[in-house]
This record gives sequence, structure tokens and C-alpha cells, in this order.
Amino acid sequence: MTDIRPILYLSRLLPDPVMAIVRERFQLVQYPHDTLPAPSVLREGLCQADAAIVTLGDRIDAETIHAATRLKILANYAVGHNNIDLAAARQRGLTVTNTPDVLTDATADLTWALLLATARRVVEGDALIRSGRWTGWSPTQLLGADVSGKTLGIIGMGRIGQAVARRAVGFRMPVRYHTRQPLATSSLSREWEHRSLRDLLGEADVVTIHVPLTPATQHLIGARELAWMRPTAYLINTARGPIIDEWALADALKLGIIAGAGLDVYEREPAIHSAMAQLKQVVLLPHLGSATLHARVQMGLVCLENIHAVLDGRPAPNHVH
Ligand code: DGY
Repeated sequence: MTDIRPILYLSRLLPDPVMAIVRERFQLVQYPHDTLPAPSVLREGLCQADAAIVTLGDRIDAETIHAATRLKILANYAVGHNNIDLAAARQRGLTVTNTPDVLTDATADLTWALLLATARRVVEGDALIRSGRWTGWSPTQLLGADVSGKTLGIIGMGRIGQAVARRAVGFRMPVRYHTRQPLATSSLSREWEHRSLRDLLGEADVVTIHVPLTPATQHLIGARELAWMRPTAYLINTARGPIIDEWALADALKLGIIAGAGLDVYEREPAIHSAMAQLKQVVLLPHLGSATLHARVQMGLVCLENIHAVLDGRPAPNHVH
């Protein structure tokens, strides 16, 4: 009997509950692995499919988009979509979708985990115990910085920035935020005050980044901006690596221009600046922002919902324009 199910290219293995649905509803170009496909494999897969689910490590350029003539939808398994040439997709009439909302809480929670781990030297503490060299409590051991009552600076006040800000209430942290335009007052707490980038960087004890990566935000934080920060301040990034000039950050950390950094994302993932791993005042995570089982399953379901919509001739709920 002919298999009339649509053909799906899936670039990476997704959590089991999503894979179960995928196996039932689609023919797969090939069963995915848990590693990034080579560019040629990605391109070949996209060319054979009606629909595709791709991830943030898959670079999808204009040439690939124009070559994949059968493809109707690229469902990006992420809220960020800087890995896809959107202009080319628009030109070719290819729908691109993302996964907003379902990973907001997971990413905001991880931002706080990173913030607290950095300021309170959690990773160094864990390493000390595991080394077998801990000799017991000491009044001077691994002293960190207070978080409660300090000023939180948020760059980018979209869904995730606002979710991070809401969590600051429990820490009694006044929130300053930077966006191009102040948000409408109806949409935000009275406690959140808009600042220019320079003023925010000069005022905040902790700065956390929540803007998308675009040409305008690439290297938004470089040597000049780091110099505007306080020497006691911490910088947290769970957005996209290239928003920070990683080389300038490594220098700023080495020179004590800022106190520390918590990074979940990097300029050239999975490579990181060689100095970073040597610096104790930095906590490094392997891009875990959305890495909860619930969020990752929901992200898969959102991709599938968008794919079904487009294949049925309906508008995609999360069309990226
Ligand atoms: C996203 O969705 O953009 C995240 O970086 C994935 O974890």
C-alpha cells in the first residue's frame, strides 16, 4: 500500500513523546541522530521533504532554501531564528516558524540559576567538595556577592526578559531595563524603569541579556560597554552568544573590569574562548536555557502544530515574519 503520509526531515533526535508522534504521522527522510547533521546531509534532507524541523545549530542559507523546492515549512525548534535566512525564505514563499512561549519559564529559571551560581560561587563550591580538599566551614571561604536587594539590569524586555523581571520580586531587586523604546506602562510593573544602555550598564549590579540576535544586536556588548559596567557587576547571557564580543569579555574578566559572568551561549558554539574555562569568576553552561523535558516536548509539539497547519493549507500559528 502506498504511504501517503507527508515526508518530514528532522535534523536532530527529539524527546521520546515527540518522536512517537513523528513516527506515527510522517515518513522520515531518515531517522535522525543526536548530533548535528553535516551541511550536505541537512541540505539533501531538506530537498526531499514536505516539511522540516531544524535546530539552532543548523545554518540554513539562501542557496539551501532555493534548492529545497518541495519544502513548504521550516519549523525551527527554538524561539531564536538567527540560523535561518529569513529574507530568502520570504522571497521563496517558504514558511518559517519558531517556538515562543513554551520555553519562557524554563529559560527565565535557568537565567536565575546562572545568576545565583555566578554570584554565590556555586560551581567552585561543588568542585571543592568533589576534589576532596574541603577541610570544613571557614569564615573566609568562597565569599560571593549578595543578590537580594541589588539592582537587576535587563537588556531586552520580551517574553523572557519580563519573566526574568517577575522573578526579581522575591529577591527585592529593583529592575532597570533597556529596550529601544520604553514599554507601554500598562504592560509592566511600576517597579521596572527604562534606562539607556549606558545608564543601565552603569547602574546595575547584575546585567542579563534577553534580546534576539540580529545585525543590530551583534556585539551589542563589547569593550566599551563592559567598561561602562561596575567592577563589582556580573553579566549573564542566556540569549545568543554573538550579542557579546566574547574576546572583549574575556579581557574584561581578566582585568577585573567586571566581577564575573554566567554564560549559557557562546559566539562560536560549541567552541568557547580558550581563556573562559580558566576563569573562576565565570560559570559556563552548554546552552541549557530551554533544557527541561516539559519545555523540549512542548517545543516539539509547537513545531508539529505549525507543520500540520501549513500542510493543511492553514496559516501557521507561529509564522516568523
Ligand atoms: C531558543 O529557543 O532560541 C533557545 O536558545 C533554545 O534553547
